[in-house]
Amino acid sequence: MKRVIVAIDGPAGAGKSTIARRVAAKTGFVYIDTGAMYRAVALWALRADVDLTDMHKLEELAKAANMIFLDGGSGMELNGEDVSLAIRTPEVAAAASKVAAVTAVRRALVQKQREIADTSSVVMEGRDIGTVVFPDANVKIYLDADHSVRAERRAQDLIGSDTSQVAKDIAERDHRDASRRDSPMTQAPDAVYLDSSGLNLDEVEEAILKLIRERTSNGKEIH
Ligand code: DC
Repeated sequence: MKRVIVAIDGPAGAGKSTIARRVAAKTGFVYIDTGAMYRAVALWALRADVDLTDMHKLEELAKAANMIFLDGGSGMELNGEDVSLAIRTPEVAAAASKVAAVTAVRRALVQKQREIADTSSVVMEGRDIGTVVFPDANVKIYLDADHSVRAERRAQDLIGSDTSQVAKDIAERDHRDASRRDSPMTQAPDAVYLDSSGLNLDEVEEAILKLIRERTSNGKEIH
């Protein structure tokens, strides 16, 4: 059995998680939200009062973190605690983006990500999956959407949030994620660019499933 890797990268609020989850459900592949892993390390750092510029301490946390995906990848357990909701706050999102700029943290988490895909076909989403984690992925998508559409979507996810603040937060985070030295968020040269602004979920899902069918001889490598 040859495993299939579907890499989905793109900025915050582009709809990566929703679409990756749907594609995983349709194909039977394992859904991996790598952002949740950076968020889990950030949550631990915030709780432990670790300075977000302390690279050595952050590396220790990233290496020691025992992360288990729950509920088909929608949830996350960190060191035995269900942190699925705790990692979804704006504070943790901002801290995750800072923690993700630390090379040693990335090295530790990328290793965990590669280990997961060692044994199963995956739909993995993040910022550097098609460029760094799996440069040989069978299918690479760069999922994008207009800034205002992304802010609106994120604001809907965060109950009681103010859209203009969310827009500011994601602009700041995207800038940091795209301008860091190590593994910046960028489209892989061989990735398919998909702008989801004017598309509904079914259309985006179908476009990706079509690519998977084309790139995997109609899914034959899968089972
Ligand atoms: O996808 P997300 O919003 O949950 O990701 C949180 C932060 O983690 C994001 O601002 C950048 C970082 N991240 C990363 O650098 N590389 C990844 N593969 C996934 C996320």
